[in-house]
Amino acid sequence: MINKDGLHIIKAGPEDAEAIIEYLNIIGGESDNLLFGKGEFNLSVKQEQSFISGINNSANSIMLLGKVNGEIVSVSSLSGYSKARIAHRGEIAISVKKSFWGQGFGTAMMKELIKFGKETAKLEVIQLEVKSDNEKAIHLYENLGFVKIGTYKKFFKINNKYYDAYLMNLYL
Ligand SMILES: CC(C)(COP(=O)(O)OP(=O)(O)OC[C@H]1O[C@@H](n2cnc3c(N)ncnc32)[C@H](O)[C@@H]1OP(=O)(O)O)[C@@H](O)C(=O)NCCC(=O)NCCS
Repeated sequence: MINKDGLHIIKAGPEDAEAIIEYLNIIGGESDNLLFGKGEFNLSVKQEQSFISGINNSANSIMLLGKVNGEIVSVSSLSGYSKARIAHRGEIAISVKKSFWGQGFGTAMMKELIKFGKETAKLEVIQLEVKSDNEKAIHLYENLGFVKIGTYKKFFKINNKYYDAYLMNLYL
């Protein structure tokens, strides 16, 4: 889709399933900010393939891969809801491989998702949940216009310790 500082952003397809699983199992161990830790992303290749096909068959959802020299360095998605009364909303998930943090890749991926949400999916609200101590991600989201709309107490339970999350929305 675009090229920014060597970052090539493309739409994920079922053929990317194996590489995506490998990527997610690595980045799960690079921070405590995701819903899974190292080696905890346990979908099979077949399950991941059908997950990606489901996204690609949905008019208001997309999964994007950020690649540098063919290597996946970011996976992000925007999932629009299908039920009529919440079909104006979608949810974002994003990660960048640690060795590529701080180069604007997260921002570039988010901008592509927001563009898709606005122009193609015609969404009105994009939402996300972020660990309340994930200052970098919160900064990135606020830069793009997201606002905190609430705190979800005890959102995460990691090694028997609870962590809150902020609910953040972007009103398009
Ligand atoms: C959050 C994440 C996606 C950011 O990706 P990235 O490519 O490093 O982000 P960018 O380089 O585009 O932007 C980071 C911004 O945070 C800022 N930043 C960096 N460290 C920071 C800190 N400790 N506190 C506040 N802001 C910080 C940078 O200056 C930059 O802002 P700027 O554009 O105003 O200069 C990435 O760190 C990641 O994948 N983390 C682990 C998984 C995760 O947290 N995902 C989000 C779950 S909600």
